[in-house]
Order: sequence, then structure tokens, then C-alpha cells
Amino acid sequence: MSRALATAFSPQRRPLPAGLDPERLPAHVALIMDGNGRWARQRGLPRVMGHRAGVEALKRTLRLCSDWGIGALTAYAFSTENWARPGEEVTFLMTLFERVLALELEALEREQVRIRFLGDLEQLPPSLRQQIDEATQRTSSNTGIRFNVCTNYGGRRELVRAARRLAEQVASGQLEAAAIDEEAFAAELLTAGQVDPDLLIRTSGEQRISNFLLWQLAYAELYITEVLWPDFDEEALLKALLEYQGRHRRFGGVQTSR
Ligand code: IPE
Ligand code: IPE
Ligand code: MG
Repeated sequence: MSRALATAFSPQRRPLPAGLDPERLPAHVALIMDGNGRWARQRGLPRVMGHRAGVEALKRTLRLCSDWGIGALTAYAFSTENWARPGEEVTFLMTLFERVLALELEALEREQVRIRFLGDLEQLPPSLRQQIDEATQRTSSNTGIRFNVCTNYGGRRELVRAARRLAEQVASGQLEAAAIDEEAFAAELLTAGQVDPDLLIRTSGEQRISNFLLWQLAYAELYITEVLWPDFDEEALLKALLEYQGRHRRFGGVQTSR
């Protein structure tokens, strides 16, 4: 294929906006996608329409993060507490996840995304689990952005699971209790092997963590925007990244010159 044709067929990669320093981008962005219901209510629509619009915002954000060279994106799609919502909304969400995954799998493969699902996947509907397994397998040897989707995820549940797995190793004599350190603990988390998020973005103005990545967010910069998730766009992401680049991360130390 000629060069011109190849360019014509390859999807447009958005360049990094001029104000952003490519050397100081977060390696890993975590995302609490909140406000879908309010977005729908403002428009007189049923809540689930907000979730549908939220999918578009997630696709946009993933593509931007990938184009701009961010190494990993972890998005909170469904918490262990979200089962408390009306049955219809839960069913809608599960069906939506499955459909979107089926529809987008080819694009994820093409764009070199490595998708993984973090959470208690056993409780999910079997057809969704099958789709998840397929997407995970088919993208596992990709070389681009790591995209973690937290589905039936709870930070406390993840910590308890890690503690239990370590206890089992101690009980069976494989591990000494004294050998349990932060590294050994982190290795039992669902994010084992991945760097911790540098930046947490939460939309819709709520100032809480809602049981998300309790261990991994220890030193993340928190950025909360009033923008409702379905409205989150390039401008909103850029604002978050600019603010992040303006912060002084001290990690418990003292300010050093930058
Ligand atoms: C976030 O939007 C999506 C999920 C939790 C699945 P919400 O559905 O929580 O929207 P609000 O907070 O009610 O506006
Ligand atoms: C957090 O949003 C969970 C997800 C975004 C999946 P919620 O809307 O469930 O959080 P709370 O209830 O406001 O804390
Ligand atoms: Mg909410």
C-alpha cells in the first residue's frame, strides 16, 4: 500500500496539546466515571440513557489517553455496591457492557489496547464473562495502552482477597509470615505488576473514593471536576492533566526544585 493510502486508512492520532509536557504525563490515570444518572435527569431521560452516553465518553477518553502516550487507564465501571441499584438498571448495565465489548473488540485489537477486567468476575452473567475472557485473551499480546475496567470491583474486597491468599500461603508453609511486606502484598492485588495511578479523576463533583483502588491510590493526585461523566471530553481531560502537571508531588518528603 502506498504511503498516502496507508495514512488515509489509519485512524487519526491526536497530537499532544501544546501546553502539556510529554515528559511529565501521568503513567497511569484512574477514573471514577460518575454522574451518568444526573446527566440523564437533566435532559428528562431515563438514567440508563446516561450510561449509554457514558460509554461514548469512555471511548473518547481511552483514545485520547492512548494517543497522548499515557501508559495505563483504569476505569471504575461497576462497584461491588452498585448491585444495590434497581434490578432493571443493573441488568441494563450488564447488557451494555457485553454489547459494547462485542462491538469494540476489533477496534481495541487494531489500536493495540490491552484490556483487562478487575473485580469479582465470577458474579457476572456468564455471557458477559465469556465476552470478557475473549477480549482479554485477544488483546493480551498487544503493545499499547493498558486499559483496566473495574467491574464488580471493591477496594476492600480486593484487600481481603489479598490477605486471604497470603494467609493460605502461610498456612501451607509456602511463605513465612515475616516475609509479608508491601511488595508481597501488592503482588496479590488485582493490579499486580502494574504501576500505581499517578492521577485520579472523579467527575460530577463528589468528593469521595467510593471503595476504589484503596491501596493503589495511596499517593495519587486527586482531581475532582463538576463535569458529568457523559460530558467529559478532550477539554476536560486536558484541564485535569494540566492541573496534574502543576502539582508538586512530595511523597512525604520536602519540596525539591523542579
Ligand atoms: C456512574 O454514574 C455510573 C455507574 C456507577 C455505573 P451514576 O449512575 O452513579 O450517576 P449519578 O451519580 O446517579 O448521577
Ligand atoms: C462510583 O460511583 C462507582 C462507579 C463509578 C462505578 P457511585 O455513584 O456508585 O458512587 P457513590 O454512591 O456516589 O459513592
Ligand atoms: Mg453516582
